[in-house]
Amino acid sequence: MSEMAKLEVGGQIYEFPIVVGSEGERGIDISTLRGKTGLITLDVGYVNTGSCTSSITYIDGEKGILRYRGIPIEGLAEHSSFVETAYLLVHGKLPSPNQLDRFSKLLTEFSLIHEDMLQFFAHFPPASHPMNILASMVNTLAAFYPHVDAQSMTEEVDITAARLISKIRTLAAVAYKKSIGEPMVYPRHDLRYCTNLLHMMFTSPVTAYTADADVVRAIDMLFIMHADHEQNCSTSAVRLVGSSQANLYASISSGITALWGPLHGGANQAVMEMLEHILADGGNVEKYIDMAKDKDNPFRLMGFGHRVYKNHDPRAKLLKNMCRKLLNKGPGSDPLFDIALKLEERALADDYFVSRKLFPNVDFYSGLIYRSIGIPTSMFTVLFAIARTPGWIAQWKEMVSDPDGRIGRPRQIYTGEGARCYIPLPKRTGESTGA
Ligand code: SDX
Repeated sequence: MSEMAKLEVGGQIYEFPIVVGSEGERGIDISTLRGKTGLITLDVGYVNTGSCTSSITYIDGEKGILRYRGIPIEGLAEHSSFVETAYLLVHGKLPSPNQLDRFSKLLTEFSLIHEDMLQFFAHFPPASHPMNILASMVNTLAAFYPHVDAQSMTEEVDITAARLISKIRTLAAVAYKKSIGEPMVYPRHDLRYCTNLLHMMFTSPVTAYTADADVVRAIDMLFIMHADHEQNCSTSAVRLVGSSQANLYASISSGITALWGPLHGGANQAVMEMLEHILADGGNVEKYIDMAKDKDNPFRLMGFGHRVYKNHDPRAKLLKNMCRKLLNKGPGSDPLFDIALKLEERALADDYFVSRKLFPNVDFYSGLIYRSIGIPTSMFTVLFAIARTPGWIAQWKEMVSDPDGRIGRPRQIYTGEGARCYIPLPKRTGESTGA
């Protein structure tokens, strides 16, 4: 018999079961609340509300723990590859050598996009943001590869997952080429996942490109660290859209759109723009710390704070070390990295940030790494989307495979006008047409 939570309303006691997760997390199951009490809960931004149970990713925000299918992010970043991590997220276990080999071969096999898709790219305005193009083109995949319903996620998981994980990389590279006015570069079957992405982005009709091994490893680790993060904004969008039985590509296109926002995945681009602005403004870190603390100033310290982490984001710690290593190997220093270090040092010594438990998140250092390996700022969030695709697929698959799954449809508390009559146009004399 599970522990029960008691709620007293109008002198009556109601009981609701407490759900306990495999890591001891506890939640009140209120699925019978409205039926028993006539009440709903109100929780703007879902700060206190769980949307599902899930066995994919575990985060302990207080301790700064992140695990994919039980494996700590630190171990995966050090020992795994993005392709292996993608398999782990989608299937729930690390692949055998044969399973990994087959999955890798499928990713290679699916790297081309239908030639007719190039017509779509030709008609986006030149200044289109690559995230805009990516969200549109992932949705368009359903027109070219229509069999992506829930059944395809159960019977041909590897094929469905590999097709999208591979093609979103090609679409991203074409979007980048479009944004710089260069022709598309086709993928090569002799290149592995991250190397092929760099090849498609940086090879041109006039210059050959050979990816540096450290750059490839950096991209691979960045992708591992961005691959999933439980019920974040974009993953919740994927689940909500998918709950209506919309197809996988439409669901993930909604996730890409949600990720684009500067409060979410778009923060990595916003961090870079913030650091460049601070540098151009003389590197006055104090001024921007004070602006971030000023309630009357809309400025926020981008890359700081997190809904779940109230301790250091483990990914930010790993990325900060990776950034330092790449800079030591390369130019030795980067004024933007120096400003980032100063911002972190000042913020973590300031009660405004400490009392609100605002620490650097995954986006604070990731952009500096992308920049140090030649990725343009406009592509930072696009690379985040590529990396998050296995997580979105795993979450969508878990949702569509749930026998008790239902369409997501939140309730509301209405605060508008009471019932009133329609007033025919000729009788609407003044500005206000209220009854
Ligand atoms: C990602 O959810 C995920 O898992 C996301 C992600 C993933 O992997 O999918 O981890 C990726 O999206 C990381 C977050 C990237 N976004 C940013 O870096 C944008 C800057 N950060 C914030 O806007 C904010 O911290 C959020 C959006 C990340 C979290 O917002 P919350 O949980 O709604 O917190 P809040 O806005 O209610 O802030 C609480 C307090 C407020 O002050 P008070 O009203 O208590 O006085 O902290 C303040 C906020 O004003 N605050 C900040 C701040 N973040 C919060 N003040 C200054 N600078 C900031 N960055």
